[in-house]
Amino acid sequence: MTRLLTICIGLLALPLAAQQVPDWYNAGHERRIDSLLSIMTLEEKVGQMTLFTSDWDVTGPTIREGYQDDIKTGRLGAIFNAHTAGYNRDLQRMAVEDTRLGIPLLFGYDVIHGYRTIFPIPLGEAASWNAEAAEESARIAGRESAAAGLHWTFAPMVDIARDPRWGRVMEGAGEDVYLGKVMAEARVKGFQGDDLTDPLTILACAKHFAAYGAAQAGRDYHTVDISERVLRDIYLPPFRAALDAGVATFMTSFNELDGVPATGNKHLLTEILRDQWGFMGFVVTDYTSINEMIPHGVAADEAEAGLLAVQAGVDMDMQGAVFYDHLAEQVESGEVAMSQVNEAVRRILRMKYALGLFDDPYRYSDTTRQSQNILTDANREAARRIARESFVLLKNDDNILPLSPGSGRILLTGQLADSQEDMLGAWHGDGRAADVITLLTGMEEAVGDGAQVNYVPDMQEAIRAARRADVIVVATGEDWEMSGEAASRADIGLPGEQEAMIRALAATGKPVVVVLFNGRPLAFPGVDSAATAILEAWFPGTEAGHALADVLFGDHNPGGRLPMTFPRSVGQVPIFYSMKNTGRPMDPNNKYTSKYLDESNDPLYPFGYGLSYTTFEYGAPSLEAGTMTRNDTARVTVEVSNTGSVDGTTVVQLYVQDVVGSVTRPVRELKAFRRVALAAGEGQTVTLELTEDDLSFYRRDMTYGSEPGKFMIYVGGDARTSNSISLTLE
Ligand code: BGC
Repeated sequence: MTRLLTICIGLLALPLAAQQVPDWYNAGHERRIDSLLSIMTLEEKVGQMTLFTSDWDVTGPTIREGYQDDIKTGRLGAIFNAHTAGYNRDLQRMAVEDTRLGIPLLFGYDVIHGYRTIFPIPLGEAASWNAEAAEESARIAGRESAAAGLHWTFAPMVDIARDPRWGRVMEGAGEDVYLGKVMAEARVKGFQGDDLTDPLTILACAKHFAAYGAAQAGRDYHTVDISERVLRDIYLPPFRAALDAGVATFMTSFNELDGVPATGNKHLLTEILRDQWGFMGFVVTDYTSINEMIPHGVAADEAEAGLLAVQAGVDMDMQGAVFYDHLAEQVESGEVAMSQVNEAVRRILRMKYALGLFDDPYRYSDTTRQSQNILTDANREAARRIARESFVLLKNDDNILPLSPGSGRILLTGQLADSQEDMLGAWHGDGRAADVITLLTGMEEAVGDGAQVNYVPDMQEAIRAARRADVIVVATGEDWEMSGEAASRADIGLPGEQEAMIRALAATGKPVVVVLFNGRPLAFPGVDSAATAILEAWFPGTEAGHALADVLFGDHNPGGRLPMTFPRSVGQVPIFYSMKNTGRPMDPNNKYTSKYLDESNDPLYPFGYGLSYTTFEYGAPSLEAGTMTRNDTARVTVEVSNTGSVDGTTVVQLYVQDVVGSVTRPVRELKAFRRVALAAGEGQTVTLELTEDDLSFYRRDMTYGSEPGKFMIYVGGDARTSNSISLTLE
């Protein structure tokens, strides 16, 4: 999506430092922007830098009355939380017909995992390890939103998340840098397509810049205090991947970073994003995050907060009305240069031009197109397909799954078995509960005349009914509101009495299949030991029940893999596979090593883990050559075979460890993977490639690059694999 132009780097040697000129940049538009800027009043310019929510939907603590008057006076250039082609057309008409210059509005919304047809939550989708699927779901979500009058989604969220207490882990791709990059790129491409003038594509927004996922103690909005090295090695790469995919906008984050709130952080918003990376789109704040610099304690009042934001490099103020109230005065007094305002307005107008809104402001307001594109059969079918790829089979003793007509009497219970709303998960856009297929409906449709499904919602009754069942399916987990924004949990076990119920059901001696719905990894060793099988379903979206029935009855063999480590207990958190070794790595026979007195260091389920209805075997990895130079590509080859009796898909994962570095390096890092579909009995030779960039990092002196020496390469089915070979970089 991008073409290379000039090279422009700051002091640091940077990965992919060449400045990118995105496809949406157009010299002709720049000339039109020049003329527009020359006739705009200061107040009109500030209007373009202002974004208010409509009263249609609520996604934050404040609502502003009178936004329609602001549209009509040219004091408001963008609106969020207003959607549908007709409603947005009415608002657009105010901007186009009632204002002096007729500059069209930009309409944004949180289209996170679907607009009306809801796909699995992003964490679930990341569990598919399928970039094409993520791109497809973003494309469909983009088309539905565009048809509903929207121009801009506040997605993808590309925050690395390593603390499952943080409720927003559901919104990203999990703990890993490489998987995060792959998913970020796929989602940006899906929303934006190849051509933003296509009225079925929308602008994407990489958020939250940056390190929002590193909130202390997993508490939302809490302090972030990480090193520049961790910022650059771990938290920034998915943003850079989004930028390289041509992302049009960035959103700041609520957190502080090294004492400076991200929304007032010049290091992030100007030095890194503009000067080093060459980003040409615009930066919007998160919801009232300029105002929040007052309680953060870096600004005494709104005027001062606004100054920090604009000088840091913010272009658009979401909902805070700080630019709206103070910016013009600050330009008049000389505190803010007009050139700075012009630059921000230019970046915003650039995107309005890129969308073609100046040629036809109503191009996204076509009610016929709306009715043709939303919740279509094809969209539902894609949602079903992608949902079943997101499921991760965590446990399957005695091959109790898949169920079959021969499974006899199936008892279905659990508080989520017939809950339409919960299946949508948090941030479900215009998704509607009434559209959702629940597990109960999906199973009833699937069994047909074969096995019987007896649905018993009440827990106590279900325990009694268990005697007459051959197998028990329990739909359990979190309600949809227990993850997402402002939904951190200190205890990440199964909520309420659900674990007790599962134990009681298991005590009947009947096999218990747990279907788990949740927006985060849970710590549930008690459930794990009681259950015969566990299928991690996340929040699957509109087609939940169909997708689950496909998997439970074996029409689809699950192939999802965990994008986040599942801890044994919350006390292990943060726990992720890519940790450092320490100077005293765990030794069970030595007290003075890095471990707990009361808990193992091992997770319940590691990153990359997932079972299948078949089994796979990995041969030993081999290399064409045991040494490589910096310009070589190393080819790692491994034989993978399906050793079971049904077809299935495995995810071949390649991890690297830099054994000795100028700074300590993680025990392993994912650097490549491939999904491989294998028929029963089939084998395949898989080759994965490594370049110098895969071996590079921020070195002791903070330059980016590789260091010669020995690397261990691990290839297998999850992050624990010991299947390895060594490689020397010369
Ligand atoms: C969230 C953002 C979201 C915005 C607008 C904020 O509270 O942090 O992710 O895009 O609201 O709804």
